[in-house]
Amino acid sequence: MRLGNGSCGGILLSEIGSGRPLARKPRGPKRSRIFHALFPKTIKYEISLESYITSNNQMDKTQNKIAIVGLGYVGLPLSLQFACSGVQVLGLDIDPEKVEALNNGRSYIKHVPERLLAEQVYPRRLTASMDFARIQEVDAVIICVPTPLNKNREPDISFILQTGRAIAPYLRPGKLVVLESTTYPGTTDEDLRAVLEAGSGLKAGEDFYLAYSPEREDPANPASKVGEVPKLVGGLTPRCLERAMRLYGRAIKTVVPVSSCRVAEAAKLLENIFRSVNIALVNELKLVYDSMGIDIWEVIDAAKTKPFGFMAFYPGPGLGGHCIPIDPFYLTWKAREFERSTRFIELAGEINTAMPSHVVERTGEALNASRKSLNGSRVLVVGLAYKPNVDDERQSPSYRIMELLKQRGAAVAYYDPYVPVIRRTRDHPEWSGAKSVVWDRPTIAGFDAVVIATAHTSVNYQELADWGQCIVDTRNAMARVQVARGKVWKA
Ligand SMILES: NC(=O)c1ccc[n+]([C@@H]2O[C@H](COP(=O)([O-])OP(=O)(O)OC[C@H]3O[C@@H](n4cnc5c(N)ncnc54)[C@H](O)[C@@H]3O)[C@@H](O)[C@H]2O)c1
Repeated sequence: MRLGNGSCGGILLSEIGSGRPLARKPRGPKRSRIFHALFPKTIKYEISLESYITSNNQMDKTQNKIAIVGLGYVGLPLSLQFACSGVQVLGLDIDPEKVEALNNGRSYIKHVPERLLAEQVYPRRLTASMDFARIQEVDAVIICVPTPLNKNREPDISFILQTGRAIAPYLRPGKLVVLESTTYPGTTDEDLRAVLEAGSGLKAGEDFYLAYSPEREDPANPASKVGEVPKLVGGLTPRCLERAMRLYGRAIKTVVPVSSCRVAEAAKLLENIFRSVNIALVNELKLVYDSMGIDIWEVIDAAKTKPFGFMAFYPGPGLGGHCIPIDPFYLTWKAREFERSTRFIELAGEINTAMPSHVVERTGEALNASRKSLNGSRVLVVGLAYKPNVDDERQSPSYRIMELLKQRGAAVAYYDPYVPVIRRTRDHPEWSGAKSVVWDRPTIAGFDAVVIATAHTSVNYQELADWGQCIVDTRNAMARVQVARGKVWKA
């Protein structure tokens, strides 16, 4: 069902189950027939979504200034989307370099256009700061901070809790807090709620509003436009849900309510677990079919001609990025509390993490065919970013491949037009300062083997076919070019 008057792009109210009763009766507005149709079991709710839908511009004046905490791959595009929709945005981050860049209209993320950013920064619709006391100025706070795994591969929600503690002293009655970071069910209504309540002396759902809305960003994917991707929202109470929907309705075309924060948290994990498991499946089939002399890429192309019941996933050198290799294990950890195991997740993790070793083994075979060994060979890895056309190399399997090649005695270098130099990180200190090689015939021809780990579209694969001695292709990138027989090894 689609409702709305177009000024906020329309709100999609999908069917949702029962929520919790209101802590307080809202003043004034008429009871909505639509809302009762959507919440059939909750006749006590007194939220007028109808009045929002018909006059949201007027009601939106209560949420005209927001803060977005964490100005990374999720927070920056979201800040821009709200600012472009006419909302005053204060970006908060602990990284002084990001704050400075943003205030000078400089984009530090490749796919966030500087021109668009500058258009919002110079009229000061979008500003950045490290001063959390400025939370006092805003009506709503959206949290987009990292949710990594710790060294024991358990959820590390310390960034969320730290943010909650920083916000709490400045929370005031009527403000809305929304968590967007990917996490296990219960984080918003247990962990974040606890720190916000303890630090503010206020009660969530009564004094301030609390909600969860997962980000569905897919950087560099043209289908992933922040304002166009439907946004799930779950609130602590129906009133919290309504407030959060009203906020997102200002900048996002389709807002989909669910009955609780936990459902929204669980839905995000399902989306990412679905990807992890299906990628593992094709990675496993790649090995099985390869030993039968069957090309997995051709098999997938054939299978995807089926117009129903099949969705194509592609094999690769392993999982990368901030989401798919990490998020499923948030559920694994939480499931233990309920004495449940998550065998699909564990198995997918096992198969996907074995892929870099397979790639290195294949590189060894390829060199062996030319009477060379990995030990002493010069090997170039093409593509350090974890996926095509982005500059994000976090958790990239390319690092693991480079490490394994080095352990076997190869001299390793990389080429990535989007990562000219490797920054210092906790995860890969040994590579910090390494520079991408230049792309020219003498350089590329000087390597004994080239491993394509990520297939950026800007790379000239025909030149690689012409210049490279031996190519190990994990992405089927060479399928589209003319190449001498025996030069390409699929892995
Ligand atoms: N990157 C994606 O494609 C993507 C997609 C969907 C969901 N997510 C989820 O969104 C969340 C954020 O991911 P990201 O990729 O934007 O991370 P990121 O590392 O790019 O950005 C996080 C930002 O938060 C800042 N930060 C850290 N601690 C802070 C604190 N206490 N106060 C203020 N700022 C702080 C960091 O300096 C950084 O700028 C994660 O939970 C991630 O799983 C990411």
